[in-house]
Amino acid sequence: MIAQVTAPRLGVCYYPEQWPREWWADDARRMREMGLSQVRIGEFAWSRIEPERGRFDWAWLDEAIEVLAEAGLAVVMCTPTATPPKWLIDRMPDMIAIDAMGRPRRFGSRRHYCFSHEGYRAESRRITRAVAERYGAHPAVIAWQTDNEYGCHDTTLSWSVAALKSFRSWLVNRYKDIGALNAAWGNAFWSMEYGSFEEIDLPNLTVTEPNPAHVLEFRRFSSHQVVTFNEAQCRILREYSPGRTLTHNFMGFVTDFDHHEVSRDLDVASWDSYPLGFLEQFWFTTDQKLRYARQGHPDIAAFHHDLYRGVGRGRWWVMEQQPGPVNWARFNPSPLPGMIRLWTLEAIAHGAEVVSYFRWRQTPFAQEQMHAGLLRPDRKDDVAADEVRRVVADLQSLPDECVDTQRSTVKAEVALVFDYDAEWITQIQPQGAGESTLRTAFEWYSALRSLGLDVDVLPSSADLSLYKVVVIPCSPIVSESFAAQLRAISAHVLIGPRSGSKTSHFAIPWELPPGNLQSLIPIKVIRVESLREGMIEPGRHFNVHRWLEHVETSLVPEWVLMSGRGVLYRHQNVRYLAAALDDTSTRQLMKTLTQEAGLHLCDLSEGLRLRRLGDLRFAFNYSTHTLSINDVLPSNARVLRGAVTLAPAEVAIWIE
Ligand code: GAL
Repeated sequence: MIAQVTAPRLGVCYYPEQWPREWWADDARRMREMGLSQVRIGEFAWSRIEPERGRFDWAWLDEAIEVLAEAGLAVVMCTPTATPPKWLIDRMPDMIAIDAMGRPRRFGSRRHYCFSHEGYRAESRRITRAVAERYGAHPAVIAWQTDNEYGCHDTTLSWSVAALKSFRSWLVNRYKDIGALNAAWGNAFWSMEYGSFEEIDLPNLTVTEPNPAHVLEFRRFSSHQVVTFNEAQCRILREYSPGRTLTHNFMGFVTDFDHHEVSRDLDVASWDSYPLGFLEQFWFTTDQKLRYARQGHPDIAAFHHDLYRGVGRGRWWVMEQQPGPVNWARFNPSPLPGMIRLWTLEAIAHGAEVVSYFRWRQTPFAQEQMHAGLLRPDRKDDVAADEVRRVVADLQSLPDECVDTQRSTVKAEVALVFDYDAEWITQIQPQGAGESTLRTAFEWYSALRSLGLDVDVLPSSADLSLYKVVVIPCSPIVSESFAAQLRAISAHVLIGPRSGSKTSHFAIPWELPPGNLQSLIPIKVIRVESLREGMIEPGRHFNVHRWLEHVETSLVPEWVLMSGRGVLYRHQNVRYLAAALDDTSTRQLMKTLTQEAGLHLCDLSEGLRLRRLGDLRFAFNYSTHTLSINDVLPSNARVLRGAVTLAPAEVAIWIE
């Protein structure tokens, strides 16, 4: 029987196969000394576990697990399928993925497999069974991670022969009749009609854009391939390793497959948090990239914590936490001193059961030699090691019942709806450069958080009945059940532009957007326009940019542009926003909405963020200057960590 530990745990990612055996015991001892209690191993170790097909070398891994276990560390074991070894590629060369340009994604790094290749799927089950049989019942093994970061390096979509074959049978299953597919996709357009399912290709390498209905189906199919690939591993792990927690380490800002669907087969969602790398690689403005270069945008980590709490149906971990500069972004600054601690405490404040650092020691060789660890390559402590020790002291100072991960996570009063297929739709048909559901969701989330609010990020299928405010940044396809749920709830609802704008076959609904949402609010979107950067449509107290819809309605608009065009409409508890607002205006709208719903707001200074966990309240300073939290600290607060003035990267924790 494995004891249920409910206090948050700290862990680390470790690669015994990359270090001399003589170091293992000392590493394990130092991990314990630092306050770590679990170690993730094995996700890239296939070539060492099985150097030739069918010849397994378990001795080293047996020993590594024993060494870790003896030191009192729990082990998170992985299936090594993200790195199929060379002998396997040589045996079935067509198992590698093909990119959208038709080029093979060759051996020599990782994730060089196609989710649709039946031979590789069988190999994935075979190696999973072998590892699970060997270690499934080991008392130190408390959890399993499947594969590693599905979708990383753009690997969800593969344009291979195997994918084509499976895509066709998936379509047969879905449509049964080719006439039905032609009708659903609108293939009368440009003479795209097919005579049989065998004629359908993957939607790449077309002269101009392929039919968006075709692409959407390919995206759904590709997502399904990830789900079933993962499910097959989970089934084996459950058989050989009963009672252990199953997880997968999802990524930041990666949306190429439906994470909720994958997560259905898992017990816990985990994700890999690299706030500085993400800030550098994604859509943030130069100003934000400079301002938060060493801290990360204050909502990057939090957004994902709240997203993955939803994906994990309440249970989630950070599997990899950035420990210092990384190697893979365009620029890789060092975090401000204190940020590793701040990021860890922020995760715990959002209800993380585990925060695990990537990686134990910086490796002096191969691709990630410029990526920091908790230790330097010379085995001395790196900067993060002391920050981890500080976190351990922080956790010890908090009352146990407040950080009980099974009980303390509070339900937020605001729900933000985000579905993965909504992002696929804006990617397939942006209609304005850079338009993205994910980006809009992040901007709305950020506006809400800057008002001191906690937010749950949920799919449209979630139960929304207990929320006071429900915001829907962009839901192009609205299922009948989602529309029915929205009609039934009494929350203040804000629906964003493009919602209800597509049928499930990627067409404009006959009744015009917002389609079935017209049962909630009587408006019709009769035209949309996208605005290039710098094109601003001013209102009296707000600004529209990027996206503007023309609306036909008998409702009197609440917000009107100087041009006279309405952009915000309200009917009973439901509002429809027919435009994209700049950050200041978004914040203003969120303020109106949440104030009306009676929520308690704080006007936080730039870079300050709050979060509630049980009876605890956390404040985080993401700015580069000292901030006062006087305005948010109630007079009866019992401060446990930090002080009224918060230096950059400092955290305050109090009980109200
Ligand atoms: C993650 C990955 C790790 C490592 C890390 C570097 O995406 O899971 O294996 O590559 O990034 O930051």
